Amino acid sequence: MQKKNNYICNLVIFGVKGDLSKKKLIPAIYQLEYSNMLHKETRIIGVGRANWNTENFLNMVKKTLDKFLDYKIDNNTWIKLSNRLIFCNLDITEISNFNKLKKILSKKNHLIIYYLAVPPNLFCSICQGLGILKLNHSLTRIIIEKPLGTSFKTSQQINNELSKYFNENQIFRIDHYLGKETILNLLTLRFANSILFNNWNKTTIDHIQITVSEQIGIEGRWEYFDKSGQIRDMVQNHLLQILTIITMAPPINLETNNIRHEKIKILRALRKVDLTNFKQNVVLGQYTSGTINGKIVPSYIHESNTHKISNTETFVAIKTYIDNHQWNGVPIYLRTGKRLPIKCSEIVIHFKKPTINLFEKQYNDQIFTNQLIIKLQPNEGIILKIINKVPNLNYEYVLKNVNLEFKYSNEFYNKRLPEAYERLLLASIQGIQTLFVSREEIEASWIWVDNIINTRDKINQVPLKYQAGTWGSPDLFEKIIQKDGRKWHISM
Ligand code: BG6
Repeated sequence: MQKKNNYICNLVIFGVKGDLSKKKLIPAIYQLEYSNMLHKETRIIGVGRANWNTENFLNMVKKTLDKFLDYKIDNNTWIKLSNRLIFCNLDITEISNFNKLKKILSKKNHLIIYYLAVPPNLFCSICQGLGILKLNHSLTRIIIEKPLGTSFKTSQQINNELSKYFNENQIFRIDHYLGKETILNLLTLRFANSILFNNWNKTTIDHIQITVSEQIGIEGRWEYFDKSGQIRDMVQNHLLQILTIITMAPPINLETNNIRHEKIKILRALRKVDLTNFKQNVVLGQYTSGTINGKIVPSYIHESNTHKISNTETFVAIKTYIDNHQWNGVPIYLRTGKRLPIKCSEIVIHFKKPTINLFEKQYNDQIFTNQLIIKLQPNEGIILKIINKVPNLNYEYVLKNVNLEFKYSNEFYNKRLPEAYERLLLASIQGIQTLFVSREEIEASWIWVDNIINTRDKINQVPLKYQAGTWGSPDLFEKIIQKDGRKWHISM
């Protein structure tokens, strides 16, 4: 990736008092400040309806940092950061209000980034306001977050609105998984290591498992989550991003468009889920009350502010195929859910057995296969499971699966793994769009996901219940993989 200088930038955050801003953006900005990654003339402009002045804003930021940083605020960093903060009181429904922002921004001709940390139904008014006051010129960029629609059609509407005011190269769509160190490393792992590069296809790989399990529930987000469900919340974006990066063909170089091009080809080659194959390939679940880390947690329908009746899925497992030359016939199993026993995001590549087996007597297909386990989070690292002889005096082969293991915490013990939002904010300032999702990617992923959701609704598929804190019944968790004679990798 091309290295770019840190530009002077006006970072304008709409919805600066909201959850996303407090939990993710403000701590990320602080960390960038601490690491000296912000240009000294960069300004952070918080936008909101509150009748605040900059001092009120500073107080809010300080309180937020006290709450959400894992460590004590460093005084020097705070002094530098607080000098950049400006508050702009603006009601976006009043176009004339945008003049206030214009006044703040017109002082210098620097890069402007608008971060829309607001629900998508406000995107349009904000873009209109910026457009009418000509605040969308070529030195501006816009960052938006999911949910970018709830279907192909609605995502198209959002994209169409945005494109009236901004060109595609000005639009930075966040999928925060693309900002994670271990996801970025997938490119290096796959394309810099010849042993993997040369063995990444249907000839050597038996199947791929992608798991994103969480211990948390819906975190008070019923209104959003019940309409979304785990398929829209996690599969359409994070799981499909992981899937495309782990399976895409080598791009001709690391330029944004070339990487995106390969990812889109994978999305378009994903086998369609429809009435003929839904039941064999998709399983849905919803958590009931249970225990997580020793604490009793409520069932999904008894979370706060719920409607008590819902068939929304909080777990989904999907078996799919990529119908192209490289992957033809290799199953890909995806699973993701809330209130599961552990938090774990990982990819497991299961390699095929040797074509000639000299150890037939001792060999058991289930245990003795090579596996590459890529731990995305937590306990970030990579394990290669190989088969080894157990030492003994007899000339008799006893075999054991053993691990060749790399852990970030050992190898890079003096390096902090940057938070996704730090990297993404920096990348947006540097103009690196590779870490953001293109319109075509979003739309292709919605087309695949729409088929799953529409089929689910057509056949009225009700999720199976699973107890919070457990992997649930075999019907839910094992079915789609067990019937193929395979097992989910169990993460420790
Ligand atoms: C978000 C989802 O995009 O990702 C949440 O809306 C989910 O429901 C979160 O909990 C998971 O992110 P991470 O980084 O904790 O794996």
